[in-house]
Amino acid sequence: MSLLNDKVAVVTGAGRGIGRAVAIAYAKMGANVVCVSRTEENASRVATEIEALGQKAWAFAVDVSDTSAVEASAKSILEATGKLDILVNNAGITRDNLLMRMSEEEWDTVLNTNLKGAFNFTKAFTRTFMKQRSGRIINIASVIGLVGNAGQSNYAASKAALLGFTKSVAKELAPRGITANAIAPGFIETDMTAVLDEKVRGSIIDRVPMARFGSPEDIANAAIFLAMESTNYMTGQILTVDGGMVM
Ligand SMILES: NC(=O)c1ccc[n+]([C@@H]2O[C@H](COP(=O)([O-])OP(=O)(O)OC[C@H]3O[C@@H](n4cnc5c(N)ncnc54)[C@H](O)[C@@H]3O)[C@@H](O)[C@H]2O)c1
Repeated sequence: MSLLNDKVAVVTGAGRGIGRAVAIAYAKMGANVVCVSRTEENASRVATEIEALGQKAWAFAVDVSDTSAVEASAKSILEATGKLDILVNNAGITRDNLLMRMSEEEWDTVLNTNLKGAFNFTKAFTRTFMKQRSGRIINIASVIGLVGNAGQSNYAASKAALLGFTKSVAKELAPRGITANAIAPGFIETDMTAVLDEKVRGSIIDRVPMARFGSPEDIANAAIFLAMESTNYMTGQILTVDGGMVM
């Protein structure tokens, strides 16, 4: 299947976890992929995996929260690829703490990465999308942005704001044929959730009708759907992929 033949995608946080799964799934569907990660090493490793699939890949090390670094790298990305069809804002972090104990640094780091990072990358490519009169923006949010979670007020705020951002961008860019949608994953097996102890994992699984965590590939499949030519009338939506946890 080549649902994304010759499309160019930028995936942030592509070095591991969900971002890596999206980057590889896109390549398997025929896309050429720009892997953005904090470290050159992780970005290059995934880019090499993509080249082994016969697709073009580029590796860029950039901190998504650094506005001027993102602007500079967006320029370099476009020089390298010549166009951009799909942007996946996936880079994200957690710094969990109860509100009473949460530091300003924990709040700022999470908001700057999860929310400002998406703003930085989306803004950097908006002119390109508008000129092309096409483009797909896919923001990786979280079910926590829909329902909240004790100990994650910073993370929940960043993800809920990302949903508001997605809907506003969708309204602004729709007249140019550009879509913006969000995916809200439930609990997915990645390094982010590997830190949870068995007791916490058990209590989460008790709340998931499918009684298991999802895989990064489950999210990648939703990201393919939102990037396909045939979903071009769907914008401003939140696709929840969580084994039925939030409905
Ligand atoms: N794993 C889950 O259960 C889950 C659930 C809901 C949403 N999400 C979201 O999915 C996304 C990916 O999460 P994951 O589970 O794959 O996490 P992960 O920690 O395995 O991977 C996150 C990736 O983002 C990159 N990253 C983090 N900060 C960055 C920055 N400032 N600049 C550039 N890259 C940066 C990391 O280097 C890493 O490659 C995140 O936005 C996360 O909030 C994850």
